This record gives sequence, structure tokens and C-alpha cells, in this order.
Amino acid sequence: MIEVLHARQFPLTELVLLASERSAGKSMATAYGEKQVEAFSVERAQSCDFVLMAVSGSFSTEFSPQITGNGKTVVIDNSSAFRYHEDVPLVVPEINESAMDGKLLIANPNCTTAIAAMALWPLHQHFKLKKIIVSTYQAASGAGAQGMTELEEGTRQALEGKVFPNEVFAHPLPFNVIPHIDSFQSNGYTKEEMKVVWETQKIFGDKSLACSCTAVRIPTKRAHSEAITIETEKEVSPEAAMEVLSTAPGVQVVDNPAEKSYPMPLTATKKYDVEVGRIRRSLVFQPCGLDLFVSGDQLLRGAALNAVLIAEAKLLKMPR
Ligand SMILES: NC(=O)c1ccc[n+]([C@@H]2O[C@H](COP(=O)([O-])OP(=O)(O)OC[C@H]3O[C@@H](n4cnc5c(N)ncnc54)[C@H](OP(=O)(O)O)[C@@H]3O)[C@@H](O)[C@H]2O)c1
Repeated sequence: MIEVLHARQFPLTELVLLASERSAGKSMATAYGEKQVEAFSVERAQSCDFVLMAVSGSFSTEFSPQITGNGKTVVIDNSSAFRYHEDVPLVVPEINESAMDGKLLIANPNCTTAIAAMALWPLHQHFKLKKIIVSTYQAASGAGAQGMTELEEGTRQALEGKVFPNEVFAHPLPFNVIPHIDSFQSNGYTKEEMKVVWETQKIFGDKSLACSCTAVRIPTKRAHSEAITIETEKEVSPEAAMEVLSTAPGVQVVDNPAEKSYPMPLTATKKYDVEVGRIRRSLVFQPCGLDLFVSGDQLLRGAALNAVLIAEAKLLKMPR
């Protein structure tokens, strides 16, 4: 988030870094120079105009409302704590920026949802989506710094024939894929899968949009990919979809199979735009359906970039 603030020249006067007591006093190299981490307190957070909250849901549940309680500090929350609250907007600025008018607490969507939404929203506007079926390929860093460490260390150990205990993931991730992210729900889907359903419907403002997801963790470091099948109300061709997507904000069409060009985590990493490609007529739903593949940096579009874009949009509407 700090890198994105700096790269986008967000007009900040002071950067305050807050973490737990464990990190308090540590020095951190940032794009704004060497900064000392401070222990979190509501009062210190309230001394800022914007709080970009990237902590657990339980922490946010307790503290986000306390921070916005001063009637002026904007909290942009990366956790899922408030995403499904009726009165808390869930925002991808390119899609539903106006939902956050007059609000101080704003929820940043689930990373998988935000990445898919970038490709799906322009198609929804032009061809009206009826059904969305998503299968994900999610990177280890989606589980935070500890998830990334577990993959790196686990891979190192596995190559030496040793066993590294899995703590973050349900099973060892190196050389494996795990169809289990977050907890199982009573309907057999995981919470991560239901987040894609609930959040897509909320961001698109359409509770009737049929959506289902299978979420899978894979042993990549960064950037989530998704295979997406859509059924549309209007007829759609790959050419028409490509034309729409080629001018959509936050999207880069990467679709030239003859040149081995398609979305991949390695090329989507550290990119603001979500890569979209492998666009083809769905053999099941044609002429009203497509299959496509997306890769997006979940730490950028799925978290940091989206949070900063929300802050930028809020800033433009603030009284001077
Ligand atoms: N990783 C992703 O791709 C991603 C994407 C979208 C949303 N999210 C969501 O963003 C949130 C954070 O995830 P992350 O991946 O950034 O996790 P992370 O790498 O584990 O970072 C968690 C941060 O929370 C701080 N923290 C923990 N307990 C605290 C306390 N009591 N007081 C103050 N600070 C505390 C930690 O500080 P210390 O260093 O002092 O422990 C650390 O800076 C989660 O809700 C996650 O679901 C993550």
C-alpha cells in the first residue's frame, strides 16, 4: 500500500505506520524514507485522514467503528468484517464509486472477487450476465506473509526430502493444489467461494445474478488466476467481448494464443491492470456465453491498489 501511495503520488503530508506491540519501534524502509512503526491506538489512527486497515476481521470489527467514531477519519478495511453489512459500501471505484458517498467506513472487496469483477463488469454492462461460474488458482501470498513463508520454506525442505509442517494451509502446499480456502459452510462451499458470490452481487448491485465458485490454493507466490464461464442475456462473440474489454479501465487484454500470449501469474504480478485472455465461445452456452481466463495481482487490485483508488476517489469529494 505504501508503494502504491508513493507510485500514484497520493498527496499525503504524513505517513503513519501502525502495527502490534510486536513491531512497535521497528524501523522500516519505505518509499518515503526510513519510518518507525508505532503501536496501534485508536487515538493515533484518528489523527490521520485515512486509515488503510490491513489486519484481521476481528481486529477491524472492534476498532474500525471506533476510529470512524470521530466523524472524520475514513477507514478503508481490507478484511471481510464489514463487507456484508447493508450500510457499509463494498467498493471497486471503477464500478460503484458512488456507493461510498457520505460514508466513512468502506470495505475493500475480497481479492478474487475484485480481480474477476474488473473483467466481468464491462461484459455485464454490454451483454448482461445471467450466470457466472468461477474456478480459482490462488497464490500463497493470499494467506498473508506467513502463507508466503510457508510455501517458500516448505518448497526448500521438500526438495531436500524433508517434511515442513503446514500451519497456514490445510495441507502442505508445495507440489500440491488444495481445494480448500477459508472454512466450509453448511452448503458445502467454502467461505472464500461464497465471498465471490456475495460480493459480486453486492458490487454489481444485482442480487439475482447467479454465481458459483470453486476456490483452489496453488503453489505460486503472487497473483491469483481464475477460469470464468459466463452465460449472457444478449448474444456475445469473443471479438465483441475483446472490443469491450480493450477499452475497459483496469483491464489489459492478453490474448494471442498463436504467440503463446495469455494471462499468467508471472506476467500479472506487480501490474495494476488485470490480465484477461483465452476468450472463446462457451461450448455450453454459445451464442450467449464465453469462457475466459484472468490473472490479477491480488496484493494490488485485490487489496492495495483498490484501497488507494478508494482513498483517491474519497479525497476528490472531501471539503477543502
Ligand atoms: N494477502 C492478501 O492477498 C489479502 C488480500 C486482500 C485482503 N486481505 C486481508 O487483509 C488483512 C490483512 O492481511 P495480510 O495478508 O496483510 O496479513 P499479514 O501479512 O499477516 O499482516 C497483518 C498485519 O496486521 C498487524 N496486526 C496484527 N495484530 C495486530 C494488533 N493487535 N494491533 C495492530 N496491528 C496488528 C500485523 O502487525 P505485526 O507485524 O506487528 O504483527 C501485520 O502488520 C486480512 O483481513 C486479509 O484477509 C489480504
